[in-house]
Amino acid sequence: THKIILDTDPGIDDAMAIFFAFQSPDIEVLGLTTVFGNVPVDMAAQNALTLCEMADQDIPVTKGVGMPWVGPESSYAHFVHGDDGFGGVNPTPSARELDPRSSAQFIVDMARKYPGEITLVAIGPLGNLALALRLEPELPKLVKGVSIMGGAAFVRGNVTPVAEANIWNDAHAAEIVFAADWDLTMFGLDVTNAVPFAPTFVDVLAEKNPKLGGFVQQTAQFYMDFYSQNREDRVCFFHDAFPIAHLRHPELFELTEGNVRVATDHLNRGQTIVAPAGTTASPLWTEANTIKVATKVDHAALEQLFVETYA
Ligand code: BDR
Ligand code: CA
Repeated sequence: THKIILDTDPGIDDAMAIFFAFQSPDIEVLGLTTVFGNVPVDMAAQNALTLCEMADQDIPVTKGVGMPWVGPESSYAHFVHGDDGFGGVNPTPSARELDPRSSAQFIVDMARKYPGEITLVAIGPLGNLALALRLEPELPKLVKGVSIMGGAAFVRGNVTPVAEANIWNDAHAAEIVFAADWDLTMFGLDVTNAVPFAPTFVDVLAEKNPKLGGFVQQTAQFYMDFYSQNREDRVCFFHDAFPIAHLRHPELFELTEGNVRVATDHLNRGQTIVAPAGTTASPLWTEANTIKVATKVDHAALEQLFVETYA
């Protein structure tokens, strides 16, 4: 089994990904670490507790970074995920308590406890991972790997023409995380935006799993309203589930290698600039860590994996 820590900002597709991980027999979720992003960090933490209660999972949930590494102020994506982060469904908040540690401290503690065993799966902005690297500079040696949903390697962004939301929200933190010397795989819009799900997909999840899939179905309605603006078809995207699917079924994905830098200045803020391995690039890139970038995914097989796992 894969031991993971899910670093998250729930979030509609975060919820779908978290339930997918919980339902996966070969994944052990050691804890949910929360960060600001789609919603403020207090709400992210509360939402994570609520998801754990819904899924009968008694695991630690921590509160983490509530603002970007460097200004400006945080901005949230309520227009995508609703005022409550769950598309206005407003589930009864769990009365469970948070683990008192910060998300970064929890990551460090777990990495020391299970050296070489944990994959950090980050599906929100990267402040907690950047802070964990500061708390424990040996962290890259202590974890097995890092898989993130974020970035846009060879495609356009979703917040600006060049930037994807998770990276844009905390570009400085992302630059720290991409530069660290660990085995990092990036699942950006290159793959996640290439795979629109039909509106009936969430109906299937609900049918297979009335409780968890049913919640995804309900919350996804608001989310689909957002995604279906400016298009003729009604669609849904499940960005955050991709890195988890890859851990379980790497054969569904095509990856390439490259050096990635994150732009932190205003117009380019959050751009993930990839120098593919073997191309000529300035030392600013070639001296950066080499990472793996997902470029393709088998849509039909991925969809089947989600459905089977929710059942
Ligand atoms: C990412 O941004 C958030 O809105 C989603 O939860 C996902 O993590 C997609 O760009
Ligand atoms: Ca997310």
